[in-house]
Amino acid sequence: MTKDAPKNLHLDTLTIATGYDPATALGAAKPPLYLSSTFVYPNSQYAKDTHANFFEGAPMPGGERPGYIYARLSNPNLDMVEARLAALDGGETAAVFASGMAAMTSILQAFVRPGDSVLYGRPLYGGVDWFLNSHFCQFGVHPVGYTDGVDANHMRACVAEAQKLGPVAMILVETPANPTAVISDIRLAATLADEIAATGAKRPLVVVDNTFLGPFLQSPLAEGADLCMTALTKYCGGHSDLLAGGVTGRNALIAPLKTLRTMLGNYSDPHTCWMLMRSFETLHLRTERAAANAKILAEWLRAHPKVASVTYFGFLPEGGPAREVFERQCRGAGSTFSFRIKGGEAEAFRMLDRLKLLKLAVSLGGAETLICHPASTTHYQIERARREAVGIDDATLRLSIGLEHPDDLINDFAQALEAI
Ligand SMILES: Cc1ncc(COP(=O)(O)O)c(C=O)c1O
Repeated sequence: MTKDAPKNLHLDTLTIATGYDPATALGAAKPPLYLSSTFVYPNSQYAKDTHANFFEGAPMPGGERPGYIYARLSNPNLDMVEARLAALDGGETAAVFASGMAAMTSILQAFVRPGDSVLYGRPLYGGVDWFLNSHFCQFGVHPVGYTDGVDANHMRACVAEAQKLGPVAMILVETPANPTAVISDIRLAATLADEIAATGAKRPLVVVDNTFLGPFLQSPLAEGADLCMTALTKYCGGHSDLLAGGVTGRNALIAPLKTLRTMLGNYSDPHTCWMLMRSFETLHLRTERAAANAKILAEWLRAHPKVASVTYFGFLPEGGPAREVFERQCRGAGSTFSFRIKGGEAEAFRMLDRLKLLKLAVSLGGAETLICHPASTTHYQIERARREAVGIDDATLRLSIGLEHPDDLINDFAQALEAI
């Protein structure tokens, strides 16, 4: 965006206008792709000043713009996509990583120490749950799961349980949760963090995984989150052809994440960043169309005799606490949800194997509609009892509705459901 760009732009405009100024690249209307691993300094003093700026935050003499050093530390395409994502999330700044998992595991490693506990919502994306409960716990970290993120009493009881094990360093909220679309109240998590701080303990960071709704349907930072993590692989990338993860928040929290990223080397490469800049430009249109399709499909599935239940945000009971949180916190129901068929694994597999248009694949947020059986795929590593306790059983199927015509999706479902 140029220096004299208008202020108070809408998100639809920011997703196109931020992060790139043609004046920085010979007037090229679209961002060039900087495929360079290293950057040439004009002289030795400039090299030293640039390093002092990067590692110590020292100002550049004469207010000169610091140069780039090496692509793993930062590079022009990474800077562009970080500026765009920060604008969309309303964060001071952003750090973009090689995948959602790279972002999430970096957040955990940057801010949690041995002996700390981490309060997290269940169900949680399988990869993060796996990391917490089979890897991170080996370093003396205590993961404690909560199951009802809108019930203050339940949440306070979980905080107390976590505090018995160690100081609560983080409250990790994935909302809506994967795959059952359970909602958590971000403001409640922020209030609990304040309550913990009021006792004299260190205030835990509230980290929200915003992957399912994305920046157009939910703004976790405005709701009180300290960090917002989005697996850009999904809706933001939008075409199932890249992996990336973004984190937005205050400078003071993003800086240590970037330092760790430099050490771990899990940055997002220039080509992926370039693709993301392009993807962002249609994110609002894709979000809208996929959400409209999802509503049609969710209603059709709910009325189908072979379907036992549909867990879709739009169906949250009127007057209930989850509905109240949904209406306050979200600007739409999104387009990933789950449903349960009448039957178990055998019936689910028979139905899946008859689909012709819908693709059987994990992941979500692409232009094409994807369906998967979480118990045997995304949540394979989570033991049955823990899975079933949060509603993921052998009859559960997760759908990520894409941009096809809804009638074609319905026709495919109609013929495949006959297999049950
Ligand atoms: C909610 C959520 N968070 C994080 C991730 C991890 O993202 P990635 O696959 O880019 O590592 C996923 C992946 O499916 C996800 O669904």
